[in-house]
Amino acid sequence: MIKNGIKIEFAESADAAEIGIMSKNEIEYGLGWKYTPDRVVKLIRDGSKNVIVARNESALVGFGIMTYRDTQANLDLLAVKPGFRRMKVGTQVVQWLEKVALEAGIYNIFVQVRERNVNAIAFYKQLGYLVVDRDKTYYRGVEACILMAKSLRGMLSYHYGPV
Ligand SMILES: CC(C)(COP(=O)(O)OP(=O)(O)OC[C@H]1O[C@@H](n2cnc3c(N)ncnc32)[C@H](O)[C@@H]1OP(=O)(O)O)[C@@H](O)C(=O)NCCC(=O)NCCS
Repeated sequence: MIKNGIKIEFAESADAAEIGIMSKNEIEYGLGWKYTPDRVVKLIRDGSKNVIVARNESALVGFGIMTYRDTQANLDLLAVKPGFRRMKVGTQVVQWLEKVALEAGIYNIFVQVRERNVNAIAFYKQLGYLVVDRDKTYYRGVEACILMAKSLRGMLSYHYGPV
């Protein structure tokens, strides 16, 4: 899909290093590095996940990772390169993942955001995500987690966790 010169497509193994480094620097800072390139390669091959990238020409400028369960999905990671922010790249990535979730029969999408990441909280709110919980222990006490959720089918029925 190409919109505003930005192409959204499935990530390839060759993207894993860049995705891992963006995750470390833009999302996991201060928490330890879980989404290493090796792990990202495994996620790209994992049938329950979609790892997608946004490209400007051939350059990777953003990515998103979503896990799909039976009726719920979780937006595990999302980042846009600093020079490409506020250009709706993040919106395009989330909307692509939401469309697939809708087609897959998903009811609710959840996303965990670091409490101090007010920019991301504002971003998700304008996409229709609501704050549904706060968990002090989620990031091992380093920072509280704000749980946000969006219903793709009417009212949000809040049931968080594996089903
Ligand atoms: C959060 C993030 C993914 C947003 O990506 P983006 O491509 O810049 O977002 P968009 O351009 O699609 O923004 C759409 C709207 O969201 C809101 N928004 C986005 N960034 C915002 C910010 N920094 N402050 C306030 N509102 C913001 C605005 O309403 C914006 O519309 P506008 O630019 O017309 O005002 C990006 O800032 C990022 O990568 N941050 C670092 C990593 C991160 O926090 N990831 C999410 C946690 S998992």
